Amino acid sequence: MAKNGSILLAIDSDASALLKFENHTLIPLAVNGLSEDTLGRRFVVSEHPRLAQILASDQSVRFAADSELPDPYDGLIETDNDQLLVHDCMGVTLFIDGKPWGVLTLDALAPGTFDHIDAMQLTTFISLTAATVKAAGLIASLEQRARYATQTLFRENADHDMIGDSECMRKLRNEISIVAPSQLAVLILGETGVGKELVALRIHLESTHADQVMVYVNCAALPENIAESELFGHIKGAFSGAINDRTGKFELANGGTIFLDEIGELPLSIQAKILRTLQNGEIQRVGSDQQIKVNVRVIAATNRNLQQEVAAGLFRPDLYHRLAVYPMHVPALRERGKDVLLLAGAFLEKNQQRLGVKKLRLDQNAKKALLDYRWPGNIRELEHLLSRAALKSATPENRQADFITISPDYLDIVSEPLNHPVIKIETDLFPVPATPINLKNAVDEFQRQLILQQLAAQQGNMAATARALGLDRGNFHRLIKRLAIN
Ligand SMILES: Nc1ncnc2c1ncn2[C@@H]1O[C@H](COP(=O)(O)OP(=O)(O)OP(=O)(O)O)[C@@H](O)[C@H]1O
Ligand SMILES: [Mg+2]
Repeated sequence: MAKNGSILLAIDSDASALLKFENHTLIPLAVNGLSEDTLGRRFVVSEHPRLAQILASDQSVRFAADSELPDPYDGLIETDNDQLLVHDCMGVTLFIDGKPWGVLTLDALAPGTFDHIDAMQLTTFISLTAATVKAAGLIASLEQRARYATQTLFRENADHDMIGDSECMRKLRNEISIVAPSQLAVLILGETGVGKELVALRIHLESTHADQVMVYVNCAALPENIAESELFGHIKGAFSGAINDRTGKFELANGGTIFLDEIGELPLSIQAKILRTLQNGEIQRVGSDQQIKVNVRVIAATNRNLQQEVAAGLFRPDLYHRLAVYPMHVPALRERGKDVLLLAGAFLEKNQQRLGVKKLRLDQNAKKALLDYRWPGNIRELEHLLSRAALKSATPENRQADFITISPDYLDIVSEPLNHPVIKIETDLFPVPATPINLKNAVDEFQRQLILQQLAAQQGNMAATARALGLDRGNFHRLIKRLAIN
């Protein structure tokens, strides 16, 4: 939706926002004069008394500059000097067909700005905005094929919202909406932490079978000896321990979607069986000679370079071609421009709720640091980094403040003039040696520290750590053995 600048022109305010009310939450759709990360924030109404008051009223509600109630935008109004600033604030609920659709808010830095608003002018603008929103909503609902009542076995993922407004994310959304309603297999590619799982879920939710089940399979966690039974099921007595018949993931997904995550980790023997299912739409339970027909949409994802894996003989070329009917590349965070700020806004809003602090905001330098960083771990890394920054900045003294400003000091990144990741190594781990040092030992020690640091960042996940360090798993395991890391 376009910026709601016309309201700014008509009523003298410094910032305005149009927010949609959904699921007890107000979601900014358009903002003007507010920090970019506002678009990524989600305001839970019960946590924002001003927004709750606005929603509870059918009149416009004003909050004077000296109002005691915390302002949802504290620290988010863009000013030249990063200072804030008491301000005047008003808001009004937009009713569409008698129901609260959302809220329009106006903020002005100069107290008393809203004292002289012409009531007639305001009412006209509100009805005009409501009418525009209604028309836009009608168009959107015609285009909207997604049915969100999905009953899914998908891994618990409370938030299905794909945040980002950059050109490449728009393209990705567009691709999703094109491919989702088809039955084509989709192969989702992209670096670690870019949101491949989220993309898979969006494809399912926008498909024609969104009300059917979506079954999640983590291929990396499937030991070869049980993989076949997990995927295709077994019959009683098929092997020792098979005391009952068991339905496999493909059968469970019948009519819906199966998501084969980390497909690059699948053993070759299982790859052959999956290929057969994709070719003839049939499965065979372990121990049974009966063929069962299944109608399943397959979505697969990997952060490996599957073409390279094929060339190395680790992945079957025929399966690769079956899966890559529609390859979809999820862009790295560093390619998404200002999306990093929108995502930061969303994560900070979550963290402030979790920590029970009023408002977490980024200062200009912190924003710049986020925009300049290379993000090898992508959105997952951003999410973890901001959780740490939030925790560190919410000191007991800061907790009572109206807002907590996060400066680059709280972020564990340093600028990278050479466009290379710069890793901040705690200097006390590397005291300047008093005596001459052996280079090999020093390099080993450096590698040790780097691996330990990455392991911590990846919460102990070995495969993810190897990927983050650009090592294949074999080399990584040999290295940690040699360095005696366990
Ligand atoms: N556009 C987005 N908006 C909001 N959150 C996102 C977005 N993209 C990713 N995330 C979040 O980032 C985290 C990592 O995403 P996800 O698990 O989908 O990554 P991935 O590509 O599957 O990584 P890997 O290859 O390591 O498995 C998740 O918590 C996810 O919800
Ligand atoms: Mg994943």
